[in-house]
Amino acid sequence: MNDMNGVPVADERGADSRTDATEKSGLSRRQALGALASVAAAPAVAMGEAAAAPRKTAMLAGSTNKKAFIDDLIARMTVDEKVGQLRLISIGPEMPFAKIVEEIAAGRIAGSFNTVIRRDNRPLQEAAVQRSRLKIPLFFAYDVVHGHRTTFPIPLGLASSFDMKLIERMARVSAVEACNDGVDMTFAPMVDISHDPRWGRTSEGFGEDPYLVSECARAAVRGFQGTSPDQPDTIMAAVKHFALYGAVEGGRDYNTVDMSPLRMHQTYLPPYRAALEAGAGGVMVALNSINGVPATSNTWLMQDLLRKQWGFKGVTVSDHGAITELTRHGVARDNREAAKLAIKAGIDLSMADQVYLAELPGLIASGEIKMAELDACVREVLGAKYDMGLFANPFLRMGKKEDDPADVRADNRLHREPAREIARDTLVLLENRNQTLPLKKAGTIALVGPLADSGLDILGSWSAQGVATQAVTLRAGIEKAIAGKAKLLTAHGTNVLDDQKVVDYLNYLNWDKPEVIQDPRSVEAMIAEAVEVAKQADVVIAAVGELRGMSHESSSRVSIEMPGSQRALLKALKATGKPLVVVLMNGRPLAIGWEKENADALLETWYAGTEGGNAIADVLFGDHNPSAKLPISFPRSVGQIPTYYNHLRIGRPFTPGKPGNYTSQYFEEEQGALYPFGFGLSYSRFSLSGLKLSARKIARGQKLTAEATLTNEGPYEGANVVQLYVCDNYASIARPVKELKGFRKVALKPGESRVVRFEIGEDELKFVNGDLREVVENGHFTVQLGLDSREVLEQGFELA
Ligand code: BGC
Repeated sequence: MNDMNGVPVADERGADSRTDATEKSGLSRRQALGALASVAAAPAVAMGEAAAAPRKTAMLAGSTNKKAFIDDLIARMTVDEKVGQLRLISIGPEMPFAKIVEEIAAGRIAGSFNTVIRRDNRPLQEAAVQRSRLKIPLFFAYDVVHGHRTTFPIPLGLASSFDMKLIERMARVSAVEACNDGVDMTFAPMVDISHDPRWGRTSEGFGEDPYLVSECARAAVRGFQGTSPDQPDTIMAAVKHFALYGAVEGGRDYNTVDMSPLRMHQTYLPPYRAALEAGAGGVMVALNSINGVPATSNTWLMQDLLRKQWGFKGVTVSDHGAITELTRHGVARDNREAAKLAIKAGIDLSMADQVYLAELPGLIASGEIKMAELDACVREVLGAKYDMGLFANPFLRMGKKEDDPADVRADNRLHREPAREIARDTLVLLENRNQTLPLKKAGTIALVGPLADSGLDILGSWSAQGVATQAVTLRAGIEKAIAGKAKLLTAHGTNVLDDQKVVDYLNYLNWDKPEVIQDPRSVEAMIAEAVEVAKQADVVIAAVGELRGMSHESSSRVSIEMPGSQRALLKALKATGKPLVVVLMNGRPLAIGWEKENADALLETWYAGTEGGNAIADVLFGDHNPSAKLPISFPRSVGQIPTYYNHLRIGRPFTPGKPGNYTSQYFEEEQGALYPFGFGLSYSRFSLSGLKLSARKIARGQKLTAEATLTNEGPYEGANVVQLYVCDNYASIARPVKELKGFRKVALKPGESRVVRFEIGEDELKFVNGDLREVVENGHFTVQLGLDSREVLEQGFELA
């Protein structure tokens, strides 16, 4: 089996017989659930005895002081053993299982990634702690980005919830599942801000806004790490990709990033810092260069900013093969120089390359790398292992052999309930003409479109151990929702893509197991069949968008239009005159001008995960009222990129209603986003009114309160997100037209009102000035409260 990187992932072998680990361990079900209780209503989580009661290993006995323990260990290590501790390797064609065991026993590997079967990993850990000279435990890492066995919605969807408890819950449940597979560290959260939806990895991030993404980053770290990453049910979070990866030129993956320091500090850097402030133990370094210097060899980034300015004290890890790639960036003559640059920059762990192994001993021998430089990196790796509780118990998360799951993919290892509850709060209602939604569970419903019954695509881009056949497709979700009440007719309608070259490309990304299987019929025949089905129905639901591989690493698009023949399908369905409900599945903003104008209802579902089909059905049939909001602007066309709401003020802004010349605009198209940041409808009607500020003038150190009344005017119970934006009307540098500074999700019954209050003080008014210093400047500010970033109530005040 391969993951989406084409990296082989250990698959399950024969099954051991095993009874429920929770019972065997003597842990009560309540104890096992304890850690989860506050955030997840989930089935019991199996924790082995070893996991539940960590034993001190001989290594740790007598040393409770981390520094002393590591100092002592480093003093006993040979250069080769030190170099070994800087290598993170996955099992693959170049490193088959038998070879990695020997490498580990020889002390040449620090950790492994991409293997999550306890039965496979146990011999690796045994080789480390029984056979290697110093018995330093390994750690196991994995990309637990939006779920582990249970796949939750993609991060762009999670951010749409504007609900940080929900994100924390996703991460908590994922951590527990990952722990049960012996995983110690995740390469997450991914907090790269993106203003360019051509970039496929936009799907993996939390959107365009530094405040929202920072909040999401904190919530995810809290969920993954819990109170501490040394617990049997917590994993260490390695925030990625440091830094600025989301700003690759032209949205083309791995491309250059060229950015002013001001923009870095104002917009792109805050989320990484937020994750670190929340305690993330690791940092994964980006593949891109920054203003000419690759992140992997960037001493300003890794030393001056990360270590000195931000005071980061954890482990850094290169991205996949990034050290070797320094030669391709053209900043290193050969691998030797690449290794030298990377270690001098402070890349502690090298992921998936041989460069440190091959080059560091020679560099140490020649004196080009000082022992202290090598030791500094080793210290961080050992420190991370210590912090993950592995010196205390190398099998902390792996548990005992007899507790290994017989079937790693057993359905009872999933957390379906949280997955469904979370997913339905990530669905963004973009249009709902004539109250087309919610649908009645009656009559005949046509479900068409290439994504209606795809268990694979609904899992999204980094679905970890998610299994397509365990995912509830939209079709399955609808069938269950209407069983015995309404009739469902289905048709494929069209393929997602028509261009075989593109299909081949996507299949190549997953080389041993093609994901994209094309329906060989002609577009005309498939559309004709769908139209016939539509004609027999009372309402048509069309599930369209992108294959999951289109919104992934290495999947940049030149167009963000609805791909292939899907718009032709939608047009043909529209022509039947039947109410048309368009369900979008995609991992980036799409240019959906036609759908906006023509769909009777339009629901953005991103990739909603294992329980996606049930969650979408909950919303379509009104068992759940949608409340999510876009965490990223939807441009009208690719030419409008970058489109983001918090752009700087300019000298010649476009004035709505006054098209004229010599203002900043694209003259062939309407201005502004098709759907703005923060936008999303409800089945109920909400109003926000009566913005009041507690003061019109405040002094330094003082705060004021902004309040407005949110009313649910009916007819459904539901929630809405009140958003606080602030504009600094004049300052020493041009400032954004508005910046998100707070949000509150409020649930109201029909007819109910609530006053929503925000405090505004220097924290909300500070910014990075031209000297890159965080300052608050006196002056006039405009407070803006709204239910999206476009329609806001405004009041001004002065800071004097
Ligand atoms: C990706 C990372 C990921 C790593 C390990 C790389 O290709 O850029 O995000 O964590 O692979 O799977």
